[in-house]
Amino acid sequence: APSENSQLPLAGKHALVTSGPTIEPIDSVRFIANHSSGKQGHAIAAALARQGATVTLVCGPVTIDPPLGVKLVSVDTAQQMYDACMAALPADIAVCAAAVADWRAQSPQDHKMKKQAADIMTLNLVKNPDILATLGHHQQRPDLLIGFAAETENLETNAQQKRKAKNCDWIVGNLVTTSSGADLSDDLVFGHDKNTIILVRDGTSEAWPQMPKTDIADKLVAAMITTLHQKST
Ligand code: CTP
Ligand code: CA
Repeated sequence: APSENSQLPLAGKHALVTSGPTIEPIDSVRFIANHSSGKQGHAIAAALARQGATVTLVCGPVTIDPPLGVKLVSVDTAQQMYDACMAALPADIAVCAAAVADWRAQSPQDHKMKKQAADIMTLNLVKNPDILATLGHHQQRPDLLIGFAAETENLETNAQQKRKAKNCDWIVGNLVTTSSGADLSDDLVFGHDKNTIILVRDGTSEAWPQMPKTDIADKLVAAMITTLHQKST
């Protein structure tokens, strides 16, 4: 007899979600990272699972718990996240919500680097692979590919450009501002339970009112279900 889950709208679909930051070692005690709580990505993974999808959640270091009912793959670096995503293919849906470090140290040291006499320290960085762009141009491109764009300015223009450059279907854009110092108390988005987004789909952009990240996840997944249904008919 068919299980209860087989009645759900995303039954039989595999969804790949990236979430959280990546961290890139400089030496054995230091790393480069991005702000990301993983809350939005995790909420999307949870919402996909609730609608019946088989979910692979590839996640950088976060403090929040993984949602129930998803396959969790924990990683540290962008390269590991990239490898885990490629290994998870094929996927019907992919959502890249992770804040991937754009750069990694060229030569991470396996001991603690000591201070030198000079007041200036130079670190060579090399670019990390772009997971979303790779998925967008992949032979096994997911049917529905969704990226994020965190911007401090020109949100819509930048989001549109990213959608084209990475060949994804939608970009979820949000403005982020944070004080340049370590004080994150007045920032937008990072670590918060609410978010304000725009949804960019083929040239059009829709501004959503501020709402809890869990509600954004539910609404995004509802839109995914509608779109996949249209594609298949
Ligand atoms: N992304 C990714 N792999 C990377 C960098 C980004 O998969 N190495 C994904 C993010 O998960 C997000 C989207 O690409 O879905 C946009 O990330 P963002 O940092 O906003 O854009 P970048 O292309 O990295 O450009 P920039 O940081 O210069 O704005
Ligand atoms: Ca980036």
